[in-house]
Amino acid sequence: MNVPLFVPWISNEDIKSVKNALKSSQLTDGPMLRKFESKFSKLTKSKFAIGVSNGTEALHLSLIGLGIGKGDEVIIPNMTFIATSNAVVFTGAKPILADIDSSLNISIDSIQKNISKKTKAIIPVHFAGFPCNMKKIKEIAKKNNLKIVEDCAHAIGTNYNKKHVGTFGDTGCFSFYPTKNFTTIEGGMIITNSKIIAKKLQNLRNHGLSRTLLQRNKKSVPWEYDIEVPGYNFRLDEIRSTLGMSQLKRLKLMNKKRKNAANYYSQKLKDIVGIEIPNLLESKNHVYHLYVIRINSKFGLSRNLVHENLFKKGIHTTVHYKPLHTFSYFKNSLPKNKKFPNSSKAFNECLSLPLYPNITRIQQDYVIDNLLKLQK
Ligand SMILES: Cc1ncc(COP(=O)(O)O)c(C=O)c1O
Repeated sequence: MNVPLFVPWISNEDIKSVKNALKSSQLTDGPMLRKFESKFSKLTKSKFAIGVSNGTEALHLSLIGLGIGKGDEVIIPNMTFIATSNAVVFTGAKPILADIDSSLNISIDSIQKNISKKTKAIIPVHFAGFPCNMKKIKEIAKKNNLKIVEDCAHAIGTNYNKKHVGTFGDTGCFSFYPTKNFTTIEGGMIITNSKIIAKKLQNLRNHGLSRTLLQRNKKSVPWEYDIEVPGYNFRLDEIRSTLGMSQLKRLKLMNKKRKNAANYYSQKLKDIVGIEIPNLLESKNHVYHLYVIRINSKFGLSRNLVHENLFKKGIHTTVHYKPLHTFSYFKNSLPKNKKFPNSSKAFNECLSLPLYPNITRIQQDYVIDNLLKLQK
């Protein structure tokens, strides 16, 4: 049997809607993008949603919109995808790595220890689809006059204290990359409750043009626009927006299926010596973008060997993520005495099991049986 780590779910309905969108006379920055943004606002109960070309640019644009740049420091978790850091680097600011806690999210204690006179913002990442402690993070931000840009790439549908993540910070940034809880293939979204920030970001994602093509085409002088600040082309096209609208209709179902599959793993693995499962008590707020277990020394076989043996059986697993401090880019610039004990331990123990909405019980049983056979 072959069990992939992830299988996208593109339905016939999705294909039909994309085919129709291809017939449109305006293929980018048009009415479907506006509809998609409006639906995403409703989902997250945020005042504004701004579709962009991907999750990395959602973060990058947010930071620029909030005035982060050269000479500034931005605190990010050490255990995240490199995009979180790259977005900071693109602005000229410096990413400052904070350690994680047992939930695999950024450690509150480590945020506090890393604040300096240059700190301007924090980017909490809701790792694997589990919310960060936004109450504490907001308190720290308020006390130190810091901006918050939430990295919600893993967390479409995640609530914290009954509010969607992304609504606690100045902005919330989403990715619709194929493995995410729904996809536009490439694509991203920024949410915010601030009209000023929204206007700035809408302008910056479209070359800095003061009027969009839709607005210009409504009047007789379409070339009449101004540029106050040069912008980028980070637009989301009509095809992707249409796919997003179609996928969004199934988000609840897709997240439910992910959750059911995750709960099944948890039930079967919760009493196994040497395996730690995601915190069951907190699972109501988890959208299980990833299902990450930890394999500790009591299991009797190292995580690397577990991965290797499962691979031989056709079961694909991986590690999210290699901690940022282990990359050459950071190694050369980090203070020698800076250590990340929790991320280092997690990196040795974590293993992401195959998880996607349409994974079958037969596939999951095959994963579980083969995993348990490896216990020494
Ligand atoms: C935590 C995190 N942040 C940001 C991104 C960047 O998103 P994108 O791939 O859409 O640029 C990803 C994507 O995979 C991610 O996992």
